[in-house]
Amino acid sequence: MGTYVDIHGVLPDNTALSEYGVQPMDENFSKKPLKWAELGFQYVKTDFRYSAIFQEGKWLPGSLVSEENLIIHEGSPSLHYAQQCFEGMKAQTTQDDRVVLFRPNLNSERMNRTASRLLMPEVPHKLFIEAVEEVVRANYAWIPPYGSGAALYIRPMLIGVGENLGLKPARAFEFRVFVSPVGPYYKSSGLAAISLAVSDFDRAAPQGTGSYKAGANYAGGLLATLKAQELGASEALYLDSASHRFIDEAGSANIVIVLKTGELITPSSEAILPSITKRSVMEIASEQFGIKTAERAIDLRVEFNSFAEMGACGTAAVLSPIGRIYFDSEWHILNGDGYTVGPVMQKLYDSLVQLQRGEVEDKFCWLHEVKI
Ligand SMILES: Cc1ncc(COP(=O)(O)O)c(C=O)c1O
Repeated sequence: MGTYVDIHGVLPDNTALSEYGVQPMDENFSKKPLKWAELGFQYVKTDFRYSAIFQEGKWLPGSLVSEENLIIHEGSPSLHYAQQCFEGMKAQTTQDDRVVLFRPNLNSERMNRTASRLLMPEVPHKLFIEAVEEVVRANYAWIPPYGSGAALYIRPMLIGVGENLGLKPARAFEFRVFVSPVGPYYKSSGLAAISLAVSDFDRAAPQGTGSYKAGANYAGGLLATLKAQELGASEALYLDSASHRFIDEAGSANIVIVLKTGELITPSSEAILPSITKRSVMEIASEQFGIKTAERAIDLRVEFNSFAEMGACGTAAVLSPIGRIYFDSEWHILNGDGYTVGPVMQKLYDSLVQLQRGEVEDKFCWLHEVKI
């Protein structure tokens, strides 16, 4: 029972939105006076987040809360042994003013796959979707308007909490969802080429947790990112940790490559996060444009000269064309000058964002509307 009291002690303002007397379309729901187009990828405090607790083998009813700080036990396994995972998604305003999520079922599935790997309870699909929808709806005022180029980033997270010391799974967990309006992940406006530097560090072991969205995968990458940035790159590129030959992924994005033959390829690796954006880009390429696609091992040094274009895909990165890669002590250039956006990346990017913004028919049925 101690755990129960502790956890709920962190939610002093555990008040449902309706208890504030706030209804959709109230003036409280008019948009915040933010400079949407100038937003970067930083935390902006919004009004509500969602919290649900798992204890004694079951999920307790969750609710919206206004307090952004967590008070958790100092022994919590999430703090010591990284028993935690998260997801990243976006809500966007469409051209006809709907608020939509992009393939949220896949985020729910991926969170549960990670949860099982880390001996955490699955978050029931219904709870996941309802929590995301409620937070988005409650923070309507923070959802960037159509045409601003910004979106509402959604961060679902699952953490092991409660008193503990030895290396063992937590007995209680908190599922929390918070949101923040965001602009582009990489510091550039519009679609501009980024650069990557091959890391000397390994991101994930072949049979490790690389294909799960576990926070533990990211702490070790902070130094790799710093080193890449010191070289002038936007982010680190990881090769497979067994042979250091095959492309794995970037720090927060999967890689896609257009070969000079016109084929679109992407690394097959058991150590990379299965990106929902990558999967979507590959499907758009093959089904909308008839591009031949393949998922296979890609030997960077052996195959680089056959690359026409490269891109980094992720919820935050969207589809960022890659102009330059640093490896073997020098920069290797793509697309002539390393700064130009190639035609295939441009066309895939346009198709993806038009679909996400409701500018074209949702032929794939990927959009999930949040009724405001
Ligand atoms: C390591 C890593 N790879 C790839 C991705 C892209 O995945 P998704 O497209 O599902 O956002 C992310 C997250 O955005 C990531 O953190």
